[in-house]
Amino acid sequence: MNIIDIIENKKNRKELSNEEIEYFVTNYTSGKIPDYQAAALIMAICINGMTQDEILSLTNSMAFSGEVLDLSDISDNIVDKHSTGGVGDKITLIVMPIIASLGIPVAKMSGRGLGITGGTADKLESIPGYNVNLSVEEFKQNIKDIGISLITQTLNLAPADKKIYSLRDTIGCTNSMPLIASSIMSKKIASGANSIVLDVTCGSGAFMKDRESAKRLAKMMNLIGKWAKRKTVCVLTNMDEPLGYSVGNTLEVIEAVNALKGKMAKDVKDVVVKLCVQMMILSGNYSNSYNENKKKVLDVIESGKAFEKFKQLVKKQGGDISYIEDLGKFEKAPIITPVLSDEEGYVEKLDAGKVGKAGLELGIGRKQKDDVIDYRVGLIFDKKIGDKVEKDEVLAYVHSNNPEKAEECVEKIKQAYKIGNKKISKKNIIEII
Ligand code: URA
Repeated sequence: MNIIDIIENKKNRKELSNEEIEYFVTNYTSGKIPDYQAAALIMAICINGMTQDEILSLTNSMAFSGEVLDLSDISDNIVDKHSTGGVGDKITLIVMPIIASLGIPVAKMSGRGLGITGGTADKLESIPGYNVNLSVEEFKQNIKDIGISLITQTLNLAPADKKIYSLRDTIGCTNSMPLIASSIMSKKIASGANSIVLDVTCGSGAFMKDRESAKRLAKMMNLIGKWAKRKTVCVLTNMDEPLGYSVGNTLEVIEAVNALKGKMAKDVKDVVVKLCVQMMILSGNYSNSYNENKKKVLDVIESGKAFEKFKQLVKKQGGDISYIEDLGKFEKAPIITPVLSDEEGYVEKLDAGKVGKAGLELGIGRKQKDDVIDYRVGLIFDKKIGDKVEKDEVLAYVHSNNPEKAEECVEKIKQAYKIGNKKISKKNIIEII
C-alpha cells in the first residue's frame, strides 16, 4: 500500500477501504507521510466527500491513534459536550462549570481556533497561568479532586485528529462534513465520554451554513455515536449572528464569568440552558423534565455554585483567580474604537461570518499555524438583531492593537450590519436531533 495510490483513489472518487484509511492515519501521525501528501488527500476528501463507511473508519482510526481514556473509575457515565464551532461561542466556559456544580463529572478536551471560529483552549489560555496541557494522569486526578478538568488535546489523545485539524486550518479544508464529524467524534471517543451532547451550529458564522447541511452533520454524528455505543444528542443552534455580546479571547472569558454570575445575554442563556438540560438527562441522575432541570441550572448560577466551580477549575489548572475575581485586572487592548450607525432603524442582520473574518484580521485567531494570538483584541456588540438603533448610536466597539487594523475593522463591522425598518425576531435553538 502507498499513499500516492490512496490519494489517486480519492481523487478518482473511489471508496477508500478501512485498511487504506488506517494506513494514512497511522503513517501521517507517526510522521512517515509528509504534510504535502496528507494535504492532497484531505483536499480530495474535502472536494469528493466520504461514504458512511469511510467516515466510520476515519473516526475509528483517529480515535485509536493514541490513548483511549477509561474514566470508569470516576463515573460509569461521563457526559461530554462539544460544539461544531462558532463566532463568540463561549458556551463551554459557562456550561461545564454549571454541569460540574450539579455533580456531573466534567472531562473535557477542547480545540483551538479553527478558521473563523474561536477555540475554547485559546480562551482558557488568556487567563494568566491557566495550563491547558495537562498529562492524562493530571487530567484524571483533577476530575477526581474537583469534578472538572478542561484541557486541550494532549499528545496522547487522538493525536491524528490534532495533526489533521491543524493541517485543515491552513489549507482551506475546515468546512467539510465528514472531516468535522470524524474530528469531533474521535476526540469524544478517545476522551472517554459515554454520552455526548453536540451543539451543531448553523449559519454564516458556522461551518454548516444552512439548516439542511447542519442536519446532515448532526445525523452523521448521531450515527457515529450509535456505532461507537455512545448516547448522542445534537442541538442545532443559530450562528447567523455572533453569540452573546463579545468576540475575542479575554473578552469572551469576561462575558463567561459575568454569565456564571447571572448576567447572561438572552441568546447565550437559551443555548446554555438547552445544552445543560440535555446533559443532565443523559447523565441519568436527573429527570426528563425540561422545567425541573432548567430550574436546577438557574439555581446553581443564582447560588454562586457555578461561579465557585469555575474559580476552582482555574485555580487547579494553575490560573490566577485574582483575574476572575476582579475582571478589571485583564489587560485591555490599547485602542478601543466605536462603530457608529450611519442610519436609524432596526438591526436586521449582524453577519457572524463577516464578524469572524474581521476578528481574524484583528488577531483573535491564527491565519497560519504559528501565528501568535493577541488575547486582548476583539469586538463588543452593543446592538444585535432586533435592536432599535439611532443614527450615530454605537453599534459595537473594536478592541485593537494597531490604528490601521482598527480603522479597517470598523468598516468591516459596519458592513456586517444591515439596518432596516423591520423588527426581526430570532430563534436561537433550531431543533434537537
Ligand atoms: N470542532 C472540532 O473538534 N473539529 C472540527 O473539525 C470542527 C469543530
